[in-house]
Amino acid sequence: MSNDNRASEIAARLHQRVAAAPTGEKLPGVRELSKEFQASAATVSAALSELSAMGLVRAEPGRGTFVAERGRLAEADFAWQSQALGPARVDADRASRLGGYGTPEHIPLSWGYLAPELLPHDDLHRIGSRAAKSNRAWMMTSPAGSPELRRVLAAEYRADPGDVLIVAGGQQGLVFTMRTLAEPGSTVIMESPSYPGAILAAQSAGLTIASVPADKDGIIVERLADELERTRARVIYLQPSYANPTGAVLSLERRTQVLELAARHGAFIIEDDWARNLGIDGRTPPALITEDADGHVVTVTTLSKPASPGLRLGAVIARGPAGDRLQASRTADDLCVAPMVQEIALSLLTSNIWPRHLKRLRTELAGRRDALAATLRQVLPSVRIQSVPSGGIHLWVRLPHGADTRQISADAYAAGVIVGDGRHFFVDEPPAPFLRFSYGAATPAQITEGIARLARIIA
Ligand SMILES: Cc1ncc(COP(=O)(O)O)c(C=O)c1O
Repeated sequence: MSNDNRASEIAARLHQRVAAAPTGEKLPGVRELSKEFQASAATVSAALSELSAMGLVRAEPGRGTFVAERGRLAEADFAWQSQALGPARVDADRASRLGGYGTPEHIPLSWGYLAPELLPHDDLHRIGSRAAKSNRAWMMTSPAGSPELRRVLAAEYRADPGDVLIVAGGQQGLVFTMRTLAEPGSTVIMESPSYPGAILAAQSAGLTIASVPADKDGIIVERLADELERTRARVIYLQPSYANPTGAVLSLERRTQVLELAARHGAFIIEDDWARNLGIDGRTPPALITEDADGHVVTVTTLSKPASPGLRLGAVIARGPAGDRLQASRTADDLCVAPMVQEIALSLLTSNIWPRHLKRLRTELAGRRDALAATLRQVLPSVRIQSVPSGGIHLWVRLPHGADTRQISADAYAAGVIVGDGRHFFVDEPPAPFLRFSYGAATPAQITEGIARLARIIA
């Protein structure tokens, strides 16, 4: 978490306190607040400056910081807005959890991205400086993206470069495809459990979500067939390789069956291929889109995971009229992804740094995955690992009946450890208590320490 985020988090907490305090009350000093929030004096001062800029507190040099007199702004009446807006589409609680990164002191035993030491940051620094000096980085590209980058990504999917659209990361790709391929109010079918960001994307697109259970071989096809029949849904969201959170890989047999069902029902499959470069054991299965001739599969891919979350670069691959509509929507939404970012991605993917980086990543992820699984088995024998994933970065575990994952994850957070509360991965009620762990963000030493702290809570 950056210092800016930390300062804003502290400002938000102080904001609540200030709102309840009488005008003129003195706030604790910077040193005291630093201790309370376990943050540096500079971070606390930045938080106080934020409150001061909003007119909520008044700093008096040499005396301290005081609750400011309530002005018109502090008493503004926004109630009319809720009436004007109507019900919220996006579940704010789920969204805040997905966007909550903890503090730098937290051990990230559940996080969707890789630790900085696993990413090619030194190379990106160099590539980024070079890109910033090129004219191309400062010119527009077409809304679909730089032709060279589209060619490189198309080759990975055996696709026509004309069918590739560059977007600002996988999440944008998901919301953009759901919004364009489905009518608001219609149904999207998702395997359950699933990625909370896909649930948010569907909500943002105004879709109703129907969930279909998945097991270690991916979505259960008979249940998918029933749900297609029942809901008449025309869009299915799937992660065929190393699904988040279960690590499941859609089995060979089910791949064929899912494609047949999509063809029979005239449905699209949004294939979230986020983990293509995060295979650990054996080869990552080919993308589903490579086995579909008739444009049922629309693939979303991202460089956030293997290259860097801050790059914010992904792609959507779609054929036929769907591809045309997506291209048109792209222009309506956003004229192009920052060309600088596209230049950096192109240089990275076409240099020999890339294959070398992916090779090292595989070894590192294998080590961390095995360390996490072994530590869990040894220190927390009461939790059941559903299956050790052959790729991706997540490990899904089941807790004994009756365990309260909301409380456990809150207690873990208070103890400085982030674990994923399984409830957020289900659209409906979870069938059992689950936690999601990730092995991409914590070091082996942090894994040991984090599980030891968790054991004290679960015991
Ligand atoms: C399954 C899955 N899909 C897509 C994304 C989106 O990632 P980004 O927008 O950073 O590319 C994530 C991120 O956590 C994810 O876990």
